[in-house]
Amino acid sequence: MDLKELQENWNKFGLTDPFWSVLAWPDKAENRWQIDEFFETGRREIDDVLAYVNAQGLSVGRERALDFGCGVGRLSQALARHFQRVDGVDISPAMLTLAQTYNQFPDRVHYHQNEVDDLSLFPDAVFDFIYSNITLQHMQPRYARAYMAEFLRVLGPNGALVFQIPAQAKRWRHRLIQPLKPTRLFRFYQRLRYRDQPVMNMYGIPKNQVVRWLQAHGGRVVDIQPDQSADALWHSFRYLVIKD
Ligand SMILES: C[S@@+](CC[C@H](N)C(=O)[O-])C[C@H]1O[C@@H](n2cnc3c(N)ncnc32)[C@H](O)[C@@H]1O
Repeated sequence: MDLKELQENWNKFGLTDPFWSVLAWPDKAENRWQIDEFFETGRREIDDVLAYVNAQGLSVGRERALDFGCGVGRLSQALARHFQRVDGVDISPAMLTLAQTYNQFPDRVHYHQNEVDDLSLFPDAVFDFIYSNITLQHMQPRYARAYMAEFLRVLGPNGALVFQIPAQAKRWRHRLIQPLKPTRLFRFYQRLRYRDQPVMNMYGIPKNQVVRWLQAHGGRVVDIQPDQSADALWHSFRYLVIKD
């Protein structure tokens, strides 16, 4: 999917089953998430991530945070408990409409629609903390790479970047179809199979390639942890990165 298709796809999720498409717990499909319970998962996640960053000996400023692929604001709202200002960025207008509806801090949490493969809406070096979870895994690696380079551009000199991305599928037959996914043939097959339904495609980038890419764009990888937030069929990692 190119970015236009990706936007249409996530917009369909945003209009049909937004909370489940963000956190696809099987018992929550068909709009069965309770809103409080849903946002509570975000608070727990952000508390854990910030405790982890702290435990790595990094003390990041508390001025401004970026939540990339913010969806309905599950993590942006939680970040607002720790940072003065939060910018949530998403490609889907439908997701962002909901994010705004549930925005408890309208003067401090700002949501932005971004449909290009860069973050030119932000100047260089403005964020103390950048977080992106279960987002880069749903786009072609060329886009994920472009955003990673942009994360490093907009990260402040003493800031920290934490993001998750799968490395590879666990099963060889899933690995075999990976190169087909960006092709028109694969999209054609998906349209036949799923008709107008939105789909959740998964992509990964091998860990050594992610590290090399980050280094090439001025990042220093402080830590890498196995991550459980992706689809269970994938090996996934969470990266903690600072500016070199
Ligand atoms: C699975 S949801 C995760 C939302 C949020 N990170 C969370 O954990 O609550 C993935 C989100 O990424 C967004 N997304 C997908 N591609 C994107 C892109 N290229 N730029 C910005 N957002 C994107 C989708 O619209 C969707 O809201």
